[in-house]
Formats: sequence, C-alpha cells, structure tokens
Amino acid sequence: MLRIDVLTIFPEFFGQVFDFGIIRRARLAGIVEIGVHDIREFATDKHRMVDDRPFGGGDGMVLKPEPIFAAIEHLLGTSERAQYPTGTHVVLLTPQGRPLRQMVAKEFADQASHIVVICGRYEGVDERVNETLVTDEISIGDYVLSGGEPAAVVLVDAIVRLLPEALGSETSAENDSFSNGLLDCPHYTRPAEFRGMKVPDVLLNGNHAEIEKWRSQQALEKTRKYRPDLLEGENGDM
Ligand code: 6GU
Repeated sequence: MLRIDVLTIFPEFFGQVFDFGIIRRARLAGIVEIGVHDIREFATDKHRMVDDRPFGGGDGMVLKPEPIFAAIEHLLGTSERAQYPTGTHVVLLTPQGRPLRQMVAKEFADQASHIVVICGRYEGVDERVNETLVTDEISIGDYVLSGGEPAAVVLVDAIVRLLPEALGSETSAENDSFSNGLLDCPHYTRPAEFRGMKVPDVLLNGNHAEIEKWRSQQALEKTRKYRPDLLEGENGDM
C-alpha cells in the first residue's frame, strides 16, 4: 500500500479528481491511499498566513516555511530529512525541479511507500523548505503553471497507474509511450470504415508478426516526427 499526502493552499482544487478511472479503482482496491491537506490548517498565527512578501523585494508572494514544517511534522513525525522512514519522499513541485519522466514515476511506484507532495506557488516557496524537508524537487515540464496543484494530479496519476495491480493487465503499462523510449503507435477500433476513413489493412488480417512490425514502424515514425530528441541515444530524457 502506497500512501500519498498532498499539501496545498487550495484543497478544494482536488475535489473529485482522484475519484475516477484507475486512481479510483486503485484506492478502492487498497493499492493506494490519498490524502489532501490544507496548508492553512497548520498556520499558527491569528491571521492563518500562508504566504508573505519576498525578502529583497520583487513581485508576488512566497509560501512561508512555518506551516509547511508543521504539516510535515504532523504527517511524518519529524522535519529532519535524515529521520524520514525508508521509502518516504517529500516532493516539492516547482518549475525549477528535476523534469518528471516515465522513469522517475516508475522509481516512485517501485520504491516509495509514502509520498508527501508539496504544491508550490509559481512565485516561490521559502527555500528553507527545500533545504531541509524536501527529498525530490520535481517539475512536470518546461512551462509555468500558477501553482503545483495541476502538477500534483499529473504526478499522482503517473505513479498510481504503475503500481503493481493498478492496471487491468501488466502489458498495458509495458506498451505505453516512453516505457520503451518511443512514443506509442496509433490505435484503431470498430468500425473498420468510418466516414470513408479505413483502418489500415494490416490490422485486420490477423497476421500478428506483421501487426507487430507495423506498430514498431509507426511508433518510430511518430517519434521521429514529434520527439526526435528521444532517438538521440541515451540522453537520460526517457
Ligand atoms: Cl511542478 N509547478 C509550477 N508552478 N509550474 C510548473 C511545474 C510545477 N512544472 C512545470 N511548470
């Protein structure tokens, strides 16, 4: 059983987002347990402040350290990274983090037993959170979101679907885009002809060796077209 706790200043954002599809099924099956916590609940001052103006000046607000430290102490019993139990990760989601890749999600799915996800704000999180509490700073791509909340949904989904027994069949994750370093091939279903558009003959003839060959060629073609970087050898970007 994997436990995931999300720390956010917008708990309502997560509404029903973990109540569908594979994530819902994994929760009902006891494969994963997901909690969402309001950082403001851990603020101790009378105004329940969670952010403040940056030292040195500049735009926007920075998430204050005290409520986040208190939340981590509540969830993990310590704010000493060295004392986290094995398999415990504290992830900070920011555009400055290590890029999320399929292999990163796979490592979490294989190795983590408890993941605490801190949703940053784009303006920033007090760096002492990063220095002291965080084990993994992660970004979901080279663009800026106003907060880490959508990224938390992405991270949770990418990890949960890789948990043993979360997918219907093992092979559906093995054939995913990226798991073999290539984009996935195109898929078709019935009808065999739709508004004059035909499904490729090779998929209809039952020759499984030919079908596999076609799928490999198509995957390679798509990858060349959209992600030639994936073909430039072992660049660690998988
Ligand atoms: Cl994790 N957070 C924010 N605010 N923006 C992002 C991101 C995360 N990943 C890419 N852009």
